[in-house]
Amino acid sequence: MSEKFTKIKDLPMHDGEEVLVGAWIRQKRGSKKIAFLQLRDGSGFVQAVVSLDEVDQATFNIAEHIKQETSVVVSGVVQENSRDSFGYELSVKSIQIIGESNDYPITPKDHGTDFLFEHRHLYLRHLKPYAIMKIRNTIIKATYDFFWNNGFTKIDAPIITSSAPEGTSELFPVKYFEQDAYLSQTGQLYAEAGAMAFGRVFTFGPTFRAEKSKTRRHLNEFWMIEPEMAYTHQEESLEIQEKYIASLVQAVLDNNQSELKMLDRDLDVLKKYTILPYPRLSYDQAIEKLQAANFDVQWGDDFGSPEETFISDQFEQPVFVTNYPKAVKAFYMKRHPDRDDVVISADLLAPEGYGEIIGGSERDTDFNYLEKRIKEQGLNPQDYSWYLDLRKYGSVPHSGFGLGLERVITWIAGQDHIREAIPFPRTLNRIWP
Ligand code: 4AD
Ligand code: MG
Repeated sequence: MSEKFTKIKDLPMHDGEEVLVGAWIRQKRGSKKIAFLQLRDGSGFVQAVVSLDEVDQATFNIAEHIKQETSVVVSGVVQENSRDSFGYELSVKSIQIIGESNDYPITPKDHGTDFLFEHRHLYLRHLKPYAIMKIRNTIIKATYDFFWNNGFTKIDAPIITSSAPEGTSELFPVKYFEQDAYLSQTGQLYAEAGAMAFGRVFTFGPTFRAEKSKTRRHLNEFWMIEPEMAYTHQEESLEIQEKYIASLVQAVLDNNQSELKMLDRDLDVLKKYTILPYPRLSYDQAIEKLQAANFDVQWGDDFGSPEETFISDQFEQPVFVTNYPKAVKAFYMKRHPDRDDVVISADLLAPEGYGEIIGGSERDTDFNYLEKRIKEQGLNPQDYSWYLDLRKYGSVPHSGFGLGLERVITWIAGQDHIREAIPFPRTLNRIWP
């Protein structure tokens, strides 16, 4: 077949012309003489108007009886329509049914979340997932752009690994022939090897945590972006982090106006997140603020979601909480030069209660100290001997961080649960579809 289809998003370029659109029927309404078909093709949405004045009775009958999610090829003339939220409509000449759709389960009535995620393979076709996935796409593209423009080389970390730098309690084991292995919690250690080879690198891949937490912020499989920079101290790393986040928000503002509108996201709130610098607050100061507000926390405690939300509520932008207690952080974080109880680290907390979106630190450069810390964490130094090599052969100051892609999407898209931010979420109770 030689037919060529016009994408719905390109219809404004064909004002007044007759085009062929390959689409699906989202919804339909109408009366005896006119039918309105809501079409989608993945690039956009448009209303197709089928009028008995313009088409024969047979074509009108098709329109009248067509069911939700039937796939169709429609030919029609593109017409401006300022009353339509998409600005244009299609005045239909003919309709050809490509694939029928009977008893489509996700009807226009309200469905519960469980039902929708049980049908995620179909639910992806609907407005809200559409808008969020387009925003996800922008954030991924903007990530590559940012790191490309700032001289980073992307290196890919393995997914199957024998290391567990973020704690041994949250591992998904896999059998690797005769050996025990895990699905990777983080690409960081490999990124550090990359930084010693290429200066500035980032990894971007799926990471896995067997956390049994059932919260609005946790997935068991999520995508992480982990930049690592040689000859870079923590302060410079924080500057790169805030520029990176601002570039993501700006990219979404530039490319996803209609999607943000579909999600009712407040643009003025988002615009504030492009203003730099972001505030910085030490862990010590955060504890003082929390205690002054009668939170039951002691110095040394890690923050849960109520504490993070309280801290971020003090600011209108993301806030860096710096220098956490050594005891609650991973072994590789650099010791503070003047204090033994904290490390040179920072978590970036998103506003509006979205919690930690970045965790990062300067990395310790000392072989003996790291070997000791690895042992203290109950890890086997032999498993990390390749990593310790990086401290044996030309160790340099370096810093890095990890950004949770779905946390950032949830925040920028203004969603109340992280499962919305990934096409097929893996949570405590869900590995299907
Ligand atoms: O703070 P985390 O555990 O840090 C690391 O893994 C470091 N190796 C990063 C580095 O320095 N290269 O995780 C980093 C980020 C968190 O800030 C959060 O955004 C996200 O990953 N994250 C999760 N996102 C969704 N579900 C989960 N269960 C997550 N756990 C962490
Ligand atoms: Mg963290």
